[in-house]
Amino acid sequence: MSDKQLIRGAVHHFPVATNDYHTDIEQFRDGGLLIEAGKIAATGEYQALRVLHPDASVTDYRDCLILPGFIDTHLHFPQTEIIAKYGEQLLTWLDNYTFPAEQQFSDEDYATKMADVFLTECLKNGTTTGMVYTSVHKASAEALFRAASERNMLTIAGKVCMDRHCPDWLQDTAATAQADSAALIDAWHGKGRNYYALTPRFAPTSTPAQMAALGELAQQYDDVFIQTHLSENHDEIAWVNTLYPDCEDYLAVYEKYHMVRKRAVFGHCIHLSDSEWQRMGAQGAIAAFCPTSNLFLGSGLFDMAKANQFNVPVTLATDVGGGTSFSMLKTLGEAYKICQLKQYKLSALEGLYKLTQGAAVSLGLSDKIGNFNTGSDADFVVLNPRFDTLTSLRVDDPTSAEDALFALTMLGDDRATVATWVAGKPVYQKQECSDALA
Ligand code: GUN
Ligand code: ZN
Repeated sequence: MSDKQLIRGAVHHFPVATNDYHTDIEQFRDGGLLIEAGKIAATGEYQALRVLHPDASVTDYRDCLILPGFIDTHLHFPQTEIIAKYGEQLLTWLDNYTFPAEQQFSDEDYATKMADVFLTECLKNGTTTGMVYTSVHKASAEALFRAASERNMLTIAGKVCMDRHCPDWLQDTAATAQADSAALIDAWHGKGRNYYALTPRFAPTSTPAQMAALGELAQQYDDVFIQTHLSENHDEIAWVNTLYPDCEDYLAVYEKYHMVRKRAVFGHCIHLSDSEWQRMGAQGAIAAFCPTSNLFLGSGLFDMAKANQFNVPVTLATDVGGGTSFSMLKTLGEAYKICQLKQYKLSALEGLYKLTQGAAVSLGLSDKIGNFNTGSDADFVVLNPRFDTLTSLRVDDPTSAEDALFALTMLGDDRATVATWVAGKPVYQKQECSDALA
């Protein structure tokens, strides 16, 4: 029996790195993905693929959109249960809600249970790859990597490091942060579909000694990812200036410790100076735009035009639980509204690129994820553009990525997800679709 599978639907993806989204999108309205051994073997018109591969088993998602799995480049696994906590901006939100919640992840059983909840939420929303902060506890990173491996999801994650300005019971030290991070890199980085990210939480919660210890690791392991927070909130920025008086600005702290480089993703980047933007661009660092979080925590409005001016790659991210949804569709919808306020027109196609191939290119992973090129892993999401009353009333073409996707970003969420596939296997499916997948 053949293990070839043919998936039928309206297939849309960006095969190349681009900023010409209308020209470089590849679209097959009645399209197909041929999958073999968990990878894309061919992408094209359904009928043509069917003729060439009559032995393939067919899964029919006609009139649904088939898109590469979404890539969420900044979210916090131990904050799943504190989404939507009232009334605070960043620093008091951390003290009042975040740190107490993260303490629970010292319990390995709890972390394992929550890893399952977290990844299920991601998959329900079509997110097949996350770049994830765990808690300070090494066991929480292990729990997440184990759970992601069970689902065969390509995952980037790192143990948070913090040795000051948070409760004693949530602190590591410079030495343990270095040793635990190194052990996690050795155990998980490049193993299966897992990758490690060095994760100093942000400059205020790491002493210079801890930053130096992590900076050594950044130099020693130059292919690991790095993730942290940068320039999110005015009080935070003023605090960093007092804590690191020898650094000319916030970015300079991370520069001093060798953390500004390719594969380094800086969450938020809302209040950067032109000099900081320019240096980010010159050093190949990435900005993660987290719109629902930035609005929820009252942090400010991200400036996409500035990022473009200084050639800083921008990815999109939920920032759960500062962010208020696991849905990358909703995230894109809120990004659109913030861009409106900043006089930047964020098209649905630019948004789709940023959720898929753009993020993969920025992270150096586009040989594996973000597209339907031959040889890429078969990670994809199937969306129903007519999933409810309001979307069913629309008269535009449901198989057009531009029309249907824009409506989905304004009106959609996980209810639009028909199925999510990872490495050629269905890992989430709506109840009513189980027949199609049986
Ligand atoms: N800055 C430092 N830690 C955090 C966090 O957990 N969430 C957000 N949004 N900002 C941070
Ligand atoms: Zn964050």
